[in-house]
Order: sequence, then structure tokens, then C-alpha cells
Amino acid sequence: MIPKLTVTGFTVGYTHVPVLRGIDLDVLPSEVVGILGANGAGKTTLLRAIMGTLPATSGTVQVDDLDVTSMPAEDRARVGLAHVPEGRRLFSSLTVEEHLDVAGLINPDPAATKDQVLELLPKLAERRRQKAGTLSGGEQQMVAIGRALMTAPRYLLIDELSAGLAPVIAQELVEALVRSRESGTGVLLVEQSPHLVADAVDRVYLLERGSLVAEGTLASLGGADRIADLYLGVDREGA
Ligand SMILES: Nc1ncnc2c1ncn2[C@@H]1O[C@H](COP(=O)(O)OP(=O)(O)OP(=O)(O)O)[C@@H](O)[C@H]1O
Ligand SMILES: [Mg+2]
Repeated sequence: MIPKLTVTGFTVGYTHVPVLRGIDLDVLPSEVVGILGANGAGKTTLLRAIMGTLPATSGTVQVDDLDVTSMPAEDRARVGLAHVPEGRRLFSSLTVEEHLDVAGLINPDPAATKDQVLELLPKLAERRRQKAGTLSGGEQQMVAIGRALMTAPRYLLIDELSAGLAPVIAQELVEALVRSRESGTGVLLVEQSPHLVADAVDRVYLLERGSLVAEGTLASLGGADRIADLYLGVDREGA
């Protein structure tokens, strides 16, 4: 069996009306996969259901050879899933380092991972003793990514990394993620703009009103401009 994160036949909703229907996707270790979708397409819902914070009505989630479909959310980090949630969800009175150390509690070798995380995101080393609430938006997003990486995940799920950030800062973070896959972590990168992730992704899925409507490399789907025009309703600058 090839190790990968596999979602099969996923149907998810908040009420009896499904928000996601029949989602099938996979992510290989060391692969960066984009999920592109407009506002309200169901991107956050999909990541929450994979993480188990929202129950799926039907379908399965498999982490390598382990079926985690009925595993509670709090256990999924231990089997290799990490999440950078929409809105980052930091604790404003905890320092950068405290965020990393708490996340590292489930890591058998947190010191080595912390060295890697601080090498990948050197700004976090500079800001180590600063409280998260006093950081810039870009720095806060770095903490959220660093915290997720402290669990040494097999697969990292990131919800709109770019939200509220200047494009140049978002681009820097995407580049850091691309470097992080050298350690074998598969990355599922949810975004509205194909332009932001164009240089990072191996392939993308297009999510439209709760269904995946296309999958492939950006080039095979006609390029970022065409995808933005046809599916996403975002402008060519990807704003
Ligand atoms: N807690 C909730 N209760 C009921 N419906 C919800 C809830 N959260 C989201 N929805 C609905 O589910 C659909 C998908 O929302 P979701 O937040 O997953 O979209 P999204 O692609 O992440 O959008 P955005 O780009 O704005 O973050 C929307 O129609 C939304 O109104
Ligand atoms: Mg969302």
C-alpha cells in the first residue's frame, strides 16, 4: 500500500443539508496539494471534517494504513494530522515559544523538531519570548504553522494561509511550507487564489459549491488565470 492521506466519499453538513458531497481526494507524503474554492465553497468545512472537529455524514478518512474515521479529533494529531485553522486560533497571552512547546508535548523528540521549525521560520526564534497577541498578522500565521509542525505531522492541513496578509508575506510563508515538505510532510493547502499557490503546488483540486469538480496540475487545468476566471470568481491579482 502506498502511504497517503485518503478521503473517500465524504459527505458533510451542519444540518440535514450537506455542504460537501462525495469528496474523494488524496495527498502523498512530500506532496503539496491545493484545494481551490471561492467563498463558501466548503473549504473550511472539509478541513474540519478531515480533522474530526466536525462529523462526516458518510465517507472515510485514512492516514496511511490507519482508518481514522471514527477517531476523536484530539487523537488525530497523534496519528499524524495537523491543522492550521482559519483565524489561526492562538492564545494571545502565551508566548511564541509556549505555543511551540505545548504542541510539542505529543512529539517524542520535541527539541529536534523545534530546531527544525526555528530554522524554517527564523522570525519565530527572534520573537520567541513575545506574546502572540502582540505579533503582526504574518508572525501570528508563522506561529500557527510552527505550532502545527511541532507535532511532526505526516500531513499538514492549512486553511487560507494568506487571509489578511500582504501578498509578499503570504508568499514567504508558502515558500517555507514548500521547504518543510523536504522532511516528508504532505501539505494540503486551502486557498481562494490559484496565483498565490501556483509555484508551490504539485497539483490542485477545484472545489465548487461542495463538490470537487476538477483535479490536476495547474497547467493541465489551463493555468492560474483561467482557473480564477472560470471557477473562482477572483481577480487576476488573486486578491
Ligand atoms: N457552523 C455552521 N453552521 C451552518 N452552516 C455553516 C457553518 N459553517 C459554514 N456553514 C456553511 O457551509 C458552507 C461552506 O462554508 P465554509 O466555511 O466551509 O466555506 P469556505 O470555502 O471555507 O469559505 P471561505 O472562503 O469564506 O472561508 C457555507 O454555505 C456556509 O454558510
Ligand atoms: Mg473558510
